[in-house]
Amino acid sequence: MSGQTKDYSKYFIAPDLLQAKRRGKEEVQIVQFEQLPKELRSLGAGKKYLLQTYGCQMNVHDSETIAGLLEMMGYSSTEDEKEADLILLNTCAIRENAEDRVFGTLGRFKQYKLEKPDLILGVCGCMSQEESVVNRILKSYQHVDLIFGTHNIHRLPQLLQNALYSKEMVVEVWSKEGDIIENLPKVREDGLRAWVNIMYGCDKFCTYCIVPYTRGKERSRRPEDVLGELRELARKGYQEVTLLGQNVNAYGKDFEDLDYRFGDLMDDARKIGIPRIRFTTSHPQDFDDHLIEVLAKGGNLVEHIHLPVQSGSSEILKMMARKYDRATYLELVRKIKAAIPDVVLTTDIIVGFPNETEEQFAETLSLVREVEYDSAYTFIYSPRDGTPAAKMQDNVPLEVKRERLHRLNEVVNEIARQKNEKLRGEIVEVLVEGESKKNPEILSGRTRSNKLVNFSGPKHLIGQMVYVKIDQPQTWTLNGVWVEDQKVMVSGVSS
Ligand code: SAH
Ligand code: SF4
Ligand code: F3S
Repeated sequence: MSGQTKDYSKYFIAPDLLQAKRRGKEEVQIVQFEQLPKELRSLGAGKKYLLQTYGCQMNVHDSETIAGLLEMMGYSSTEDEKEADLILLNTCAIRENAEDRVFGTLGRFKQYKLEKPDLILGVCGCMSQEESVVNRILKSYQHVDLIFGTHNIHRLPQLLQNALYSKEMVVEVWSKEGDIIENLPKVREDGLRAWVNIMYGCDKFCTYCIVPYTRGKERSRRPEDVLGELRELARKGYQEVTLLGQNVNAYGKDFEDLDYRFGDLMDDARKIGIPRIRFTTSHPQDFDDHLIEVLAKGGNLVEHIHLPVQSGSSEILKMMARKYDRATYLELVRKIKAAIPDVVLTTDIIVGFPNETEEQFAETLSLVREVEYDSAYTFIYSPRDGTPAAKMQDNVPLEVKRERLHRLNEVVNEIARQKNEKLRGEIVEVLVEGESKKNPEILSGRTRSNKLVNFSGPKHLIGQMVYVKIDQPQTWTLNGVWVEDQKVMVSGVSS
């Protein structure tokens, strides 16, 4: 294979970050996914696929769609690399270390490809939307057979057919925002918890972030499609649904014929018989009073809000183009806490943004202490090619960034520990997901506020909503005992 010049032109559509940045005026089309032609429906018969997913919930859910398409083609899943006829890596581009892991894995798969030349190796997800990544694969990872982008998922059956019958690498990545494709098949992880997209893309263009380039412009699914999917999940007995969008609070802003926003959607979702409804991710800017009012009604709308702040310094927030400052964020937190007194707030924080001073970093520490998050995802800033922040000069050495991350984590953990300590002796409602990863004798599940609970109990509780009395709170998890004589009332709205 190597050494020869290949002609990629036949199947080649490469990504283009500049084009990805342009937000078109053309209307987003809603396309109904059609049944596959007969020849594609048997293409995977007797074959196995392995799908490896990196990154956020959006990717996790995209993988459920990819699995749905593959199973429609006759493929069945495997976890065993050696057994797979098709290996797909659904990748994430958010930070450099996420990308390094994928390149490492791709390098490792070269040997498999030599041993099993019929193996199809594909790369999809956010990394495939980046020109630099596609060029690097073309140059140094020629054993890859297929690259497709986040807007091309529904084209997988055709692209796979091309890859199977051609000796060339198949690359199809649409840079401009895609349409909304309804009715795609999905293989959901379990029968208990489900992800539901409410919107795609992001128009915020925070200066450090690659997502608006890899996921295209903001576009909302029609309310009737979202609510229809929720009703179907309720009928199938799902206990928990997470509504997904990069920025769920912008839901509906793009409707020209409808005045219907995220608060309206949550208010309608509230009336559907699913015991728990979550959402992620909230951007502070579009978090309006109506939404707070709706969330305060509780019921199946859980009291957990993931509200990324990124930094406690107004100057840094300005350089990040987050479109709010420290005071506005704190005011929003105040309003949320007043309306939902038992709310659990979690967040994302970036340390070491270009030229962040010690004082600016200290403002992040003080904001964390002020808000008292139950937990936080914390990251060292990673420059992403093509984003405005990547062009900024940066005078903060990596060791300083590492040290700040460490100090931040100490504060975050200390507060997390204190918050969990308050639950000592409390009885919490737990949706039992399965056996604990570390010990099959122990069951684990989550509270309404998404905290992990471990307790011992009979296996038949898996899939049920139970009460657990917390007796050993830890920093990351809560240990407790099953309260056997108390039944959880679940009738859409849990007690
Ligand atoms: N849409 C979500 C975030 C999705 S990305 C939101 O705006 O809240 C998840 C998190 O990754 C972000 O909140 C941010 O904290 C982090 N992140 C994004 N780009 C990053 C970068 N270039 N370097 C480090 N962390 C980054
Ligand atoms: Fe990235 Fe900002 Fe969009 Fe979140 S809101 S996905 S951080 S650009
Ligand atoms: Fe990563 Fe793409 Fe999600 S970059 S965080 S997988 S939207």
